[in-house]
Amino acid sequence: MNTAHDSSQPTVYLETYGCQMNIADSELIAAILRRAGYGRAACPEDADVVLLNTCAIREHAEERVLSRLSTLARLKHKRPALRLGLLGCMAQHNRAQLIEKAPYLDLVAGPDSYRRLPEFLGRTGFDPIVDVRLDREETYAGIGADRAPHPRAYVTVMRGCDRFCTFCVVPYVRGRERSVAPDAVLHECREMAAHGVREVVLLGQTVNAYRHGEVDFGGLLRMIAAIDGIERIRFTSPHPCDMTAAVIDAMAGEPKVQPYLHLPVQSGSDRILAAMQRGYSVKEYLDLVERLRSVIPELALSTDIIVGFHGEEETDFIATMDLMREVAFDSAFTFKYSVREHTRAYKLGDTVSETEKARRLAAIIELQESLSTASNQNEVGRIREVLVEGPARRGDGMLCGKTPQFKTAVFAAQAQPGDLIPVRIISATSHSLIGVPVGR
Ligand code: 5AD
Ligand code: SF4
Repeated sequence: MNTAHDSSQPTVYLETYGCQMNIADSELIAAILRRAGYGRAACPEDADVVLLNTCAIREHAEERVLSRLSTLARLKHKRPALRLGLLGCMAQHNRAQLIEKAPYLDLVAGPDSYRRLPEFLGRTGFDPIVDVRLDREETYAGIGADRAPHPRAYVTVMRGCDRFCTFCVVPYVRGRERSVAPDAVLHECREMAAHGVREVVLLGQTVNAYRHGEVDFGGLLRMIAAIDGIERIRFTSPHPCDMTAAVIDAMAGEPKVQPYLHLPVQSGSDRILAAMQRGYSVKEYLDLVERLRSVIPELALSTDIIVGFHGEEETDFIATMDLMREVAFDSAFTFKYSVREHTRAYKLGDTVSETEKARRLAAIIELQESLSTASNQNEVGRIREVLVEGPARRGDGMLCGKTPQFKTAVFAAQAQPGDLIPVRIISATSHSLIGVPVGR
């Protein structure tokens, strides 16, 4: 959806919170609303409809949205015709309570309700609409997405999660696992390739649990690798228990599948992993990492870690730090445990104080900084192929792009977004690599 529209068209402003799945869902919502005749507003002040696509994973994410909503309520107070909607995981998690907390909301719609958005927004009347039905079949296959032009694009290949880790609200807010038919995924990838996309990122809550008929995730990777124009394939987030031989073989055997894996570990303590019902032990995780590294040379690994889960003692926390050092993750997303209503761990409550969680979080962030710096320093002197994205944020005429290991490289070059160019890395920080193009 672009921002140009004729003045008789209603306009929508869409704001996205949370993970890549939500970014991809907003692209889908944009396509649905464009087809229903909505133009896109550049800011809430100019819009007829303001929609927030929200995240429920931690309390903090919900608080941010509630505070944003109270700001938007002032806008609605000035302009009562403005329609305000809350979509996504928080809608599903809080449902009708949201209308009590935020009575100025016109619409609350969960992740499986997006096809019905035009119908809801077309209704006239004063009662707010709440639609949080989950649908075991809904994959939004064939709807497409309105993406901003970029050489890298997301494609949702499966939705929902059946794992029920005890801390996590996702299975409750996104419902059961379901996969998009391979034909629909391939069609989407071909379309994207025709529009300049060079790298696809396949998305799913447990993306490697993908299965549609006879096609498993390894099969899907191989099918996408056969598409001309798609040069690179990534995916997120896999579950360690679904890293089957078929997936590992496809990663190792298909050069287009990039040597980078985000493999959430959550904790380095067997006791805590069992309490989280993650389905693997520390040893099993380490064995998996060893297997992956033995067949995928120069594999970069990132992870998710939660500190302060119910019952986490100092010894468990030290075990997590030990595991981080042992694997030497290239990067990590780190979180303080947040008790979530509806989850299995909810009734257990919190045993680690906020101060202690903050201390543990600061310690793992510091450790990861040193591991990331060491991993990036190790890149110095190497030549890496970079997919050019555009100007670097530093705004000094430099370009940026990702290496196969998904590290950000910054360099000066005459190149266009979408070009793949070899870059020699000459220096590094914990967050990025500086390079110079070679041999062109
Ligand atoms: N508290 C803190 N972090 C959480 N995550 C999921 N649920 C919670 C929670 N209740 C983290 C996990 C997951 C990532 C997406 O968010 O690390 O992998
Ligand atoms: Fe949440 Fe676990 Fe499912 Fe990941 S695998 S979405 S952490 S329940």
